[in-house]
Amino acid sequence: EKGGWSSFMAKEISEEPEAVANTILGRVVDGQAVLPELEGLDGMLAGIDRVIVIACGTASYSGLVGKYAIEKWARVPVEVELSHEFRYREPVLNERTLVVSISQSGETMDTLMAVKYAIANGARTLSICNTQGATIARESDAVVYTHAGPEVAVASTKAFVAQITALYLFGLHLARVRGTLDAETSAHQLAELQGIPAKIEQVLGNGEEITQLAKWMSDSRAVLFLGRHVGYPIALEGALKLKELAYIHAEGFAAGELKHGPIALIEPGQPVFVIVPSPRDPNSLHAKVVSNIQEIRARGARILAIAEEGDVAVLPFADEVIRIPLAAPLFEPLLTVIPLQLFAMELATAKGLDVDQPRNLAKSVTVE
Ligand code: M6R
Repeated sequence: EKGGWSSFMAKEISEEPEAVANTILGRVVDGQAVLPELEGLDGMLAGIDRVIVIACGTASYSGLVGKYAIEKWARVPVEVELSHEFRYREPVLNERTLVVSISQSGETMDTLMAVKYAIANGARTLSICNTQGATIARESDAVVYTHAGPEVAVASTKAFVAQITALYLFGLHLARVRGTLDAETSAHQLAELQGIPAKIEQVLGNGEEITQLAKWMSDSRAVLFLGRHVGYPIALEGALKLKELAYIHAEGFAAGELKHGPIALIEPGQPVFVIVPSPRDPNSLHAKVVSNIQEIRARGARILAIAEEGDVAVLPFADEVIRIPLAAPLFEPLLTVIPLQLFAMELATAKGLDVDQPRNLAKSVTVE
């Protein structure tokens, strides 16, 4: 039941802090990530030379976030591929390939068929799934459940943050087994992750400004989303949410791609959400994204920046600044996605649309 909320989606967004906290629960032992469901698989995990993540839609964007974390911590190459593309291109697989499927429902036919293909072609399989006993979970060698609780709204929200959380835990587990990360760094990362639910709560507390923004923008015809590094998959996710809920043409881009084409789309008044990396980012991506903002602002774009508290560099160039609390740069997606989910929901609501049941879509896609 909706329990007093206007929609399942609103309720499920409000449950995101618990979705993350419950997914972490019982998986941190003495400051180390320990996934009990992977017990006995250390030898296999130490021996893999490649990870291929397969998923569709929002779940695939969680995989893209996971790629940054897993490669950084566990030093194993990670590819992310849409399930329906994966199985029709004769991918090179062997027993040193770990295919990680991600699915909220665990019933998505494209992903199920891709998992079966992976098994038939000698790969090892792990599924990240939100539904106990789902078909994909049963087919895989191992399953790491996300504990987001049942997700009813067609648009995935709390399952997405839980998937990202599970991937961080898996990345740290894998790093421990492979000996690629020292215990202190790992413990520090986990402490940061454990602090995220309270920060999501803070972002949710600023929901009213997003509602206003969505109302002002309810007649937008196209909205662009820019991000870089882990902000890039969040730009893709922000665009998908807006398409599926508000039926507005939306595109997400890697900010570095702007000059390679998308900047031609910028005309006066074009709304662009920009996910601004933390100024503390070790790769100095903050300055690069601020310079992207200047470039598009000079061409008339209306800038809606999602930036860390205290980041003043964006102020002269942004029309709106949505603040997120300080977090370790790798974990920022768990915060930056929240305003984009709220924005799509509020904009659809302002247009009088059914946010739980958008047109033409089903909660789980059980046909190919
Ligand atoms: O159940 P799954 O996680 O396998 O579903 C995958 C996609 O169909 C799903 O994430 C879809 O993109 C959502 N409607 C996005 O909000």
